[in-house]
Amino acid sequence: MYKLTFINLQDSTRLECEAAAESMLISAVRSLVSDGKLQLAWRCGQGTCGACKVRLEHAGSGNMVTLGGKERNVMIRHAGLAAGSPLTIPDTPELVRLACHIQIKSDLTIYV
Ligand code: FES
Repeated sequence: MYKLTFINLQDSTRLECEAAAESMLISAVRSLVSDGKLQLAWRCGQGTCGACKVRLEHAGSGNMVTLGGKERNVMIRHAGLAAGSPLTIPDTPELVRLACHIQIKSDLTIYV
């Protein structure tokens, strides 16, 4: 299990929970949203609509991350990633990611 800490950027409230290793972040988001504990828009749950935008910090922040082609394309259409961006880019807390494409492999701080 890994620790997830959600931080609401508007009011700085924090929400902590645990998630199974290798599970997808959208699964934790779905559960917390349906329980009324987290406000984060998501629609498709399949990585195509671009609604589940988050920013992340984790132990690997600052290294390079290789996006999947599908995530990269959705990020270009919906999350401000420049067209023509390479698949491997710096993994910074400023990088918008999609919860549908994040596999939980460490403790995460998630900004929503
Ligand atoms: S909810 Fe549609 S991409 Fe995540």
